[in-house]
Amino acid sequence: MSLQFEKVDVLIVGAGLAAVTVALHLPHTLNVLLVSKHEVTSANSDLAQGGIASSYLESSSVDHERDTLVASKLAAMPDRVYTLVEEGRSAIRDLERFGVVFDRDETGYAVGREGAHGMNRIFHVGGDETGRHVMATLRRQLPDNVTVMEHVLIDSLLKSDGRVSGATGYNGETRLHVQAGAVVLATGGIGGLIDWTSNCRSVTGDGLVLAHEVGAVLTNLSRIQFHPTLLAVESPHLVTEALRGAGATLVDASGRHVMAYHPLGSLAPRDEVARTLTRHDGVVYLDTSRVERIAERFPKLVATCDAHGIDVCQIPVRPGLHFHMGGVDVDADGRTAVAGLYAVGEVADSGVHGKNRLASNSLLECWVFGKRVAATVTVEEKPLTVNETTVYEVSLDLFSRYRQQIGEWLTISPQIGEIASFLENTQQLVQTKHMSRQLSEQTLSLKAARLLARAMIETEDGYEQDRFARTADGISK
Ligand code: SIN
Repeated sequence: MSLQFEKVDVLIVGAGLAAVTVALHLPHTLNVLLVSKHEVTSANSDLAQGGIASSYLESSSVDHERDTLVASKLAAMPDRVYTLVEEGRSAIRDLERFGVVFDRDETGYAVGREGAHGMNRIFHVGGDETGRHVMATLRRQLPDNVTVMEHVLIDSLLKSDGRVSGATGYNGETRLHVQAGAVVLATGGIGGLIDWTSNCRSVTGDGLVLAHEVGAVLTNLSRIQFHPTLLAVESPHLVTEALRGAGATLVDASGRHVMAYHPLGSLAPRDEVARTLTRHDGVVYLDTSRVERIAERFPKLVATCDAHGIDVCQIPVRPGLHFHMGGVDVDADGRTAVAGLYAVGEVADSGVHGKNRLASNSLLECWVFGKRVAATVTVEEKPLTVNETTVYEVSLDLFSRYRQQIGEWLTISPQIGEIASFLENTQQLVQTKHMSRQLSEQTLSLKAARLLARAMIETEDGYEQDRFARTADGISK
């Protein structure tokens, strides 16, 4: 097998908004390599429809802070939430400086509303194609010191004298060794582990495994968010909550409002709506008859419904896996417990989401904490000692069967028996040194699923790490 060697100051693993924000803000004197497992546009950020929540137009961030904490079930870390919403006030202006043009109407910024927000504060670009537009604009702004490589799978991190010193993986099918003075994980969440998800299929928890294997701490892994409204068709698509913010309601086949019991109606916090819809017997629809200018404000939705022959006035929906609140434990600047290793975006447990993320706070998190990581990263060159890892010898057929099993327990109401039998079945997996990109990729997915499965069982047993009890002492500075 051929081998490629790269030496850089900073390796960024991932290509979504968290990764790009770090790359844009690192000093231009650093030699930065940003790697994407597939095309750069296969990041969840590119799919984001909702937008960016910010109190930019409000007199303070107090209401945004309260909405975030309440949605989190008061399980978010108050100081981190304060950082998010307060530093997030200037995110809109910052992004405009990088060329992002937010939607406007006759009143000024066309801010929308989503579940559990007390007011309209969601900024969009191109209606429900916010992510695609923001990412395209920002990627064009990446400076010359940043090299972007697509189709690079990172399958393990390397350590030297207790510090992360690089990574191994594949560039296409070529084995890749990267020596790096610091590594930033921005690999996103876990949604691609199953089919019923709003996520890109390639987003499968790699960062959790990479971090765990070099000794970083993972927290709150069982905190997983389900979005209430995926289009109920064979291959699911997100139907943005902004549609409900614009007046759509969730109704049953007879037109009865299924969220009528809740004071916020169809705009109740998304975990609540998702649970109600999961329990509901029969199909639930989004009745969009009261949404004005739907084609102009939701072009992606209208095109998707057209492609599936669905009447945009009555859209069948069902919940699906959306976001991972838990992840790699980080301090307020993205440091993990391992020197030289940082994490940001969905892969990190930044403490701002608690048990339920407030809508449209995730792009904001990427921007705010991505900037903080860029300002914090220290680069230290260490020798690269490569111990090639082993991978699971799993045929594609067997892998698809495991994937199907994961889909059976990674649900809004997981059955402990199914999780336990998945853990038991995969316990016996045989490891081999016969590496290939495919086996490496499958191994990362299975290991990520096993990490989640174990965390879900521990949570069920009454163990849940208390973020409030955890101090910054455990985090290496
Ligand atoms: C949505 O558009 O409904 C999703 C937004 C988000 O998850 O923040």
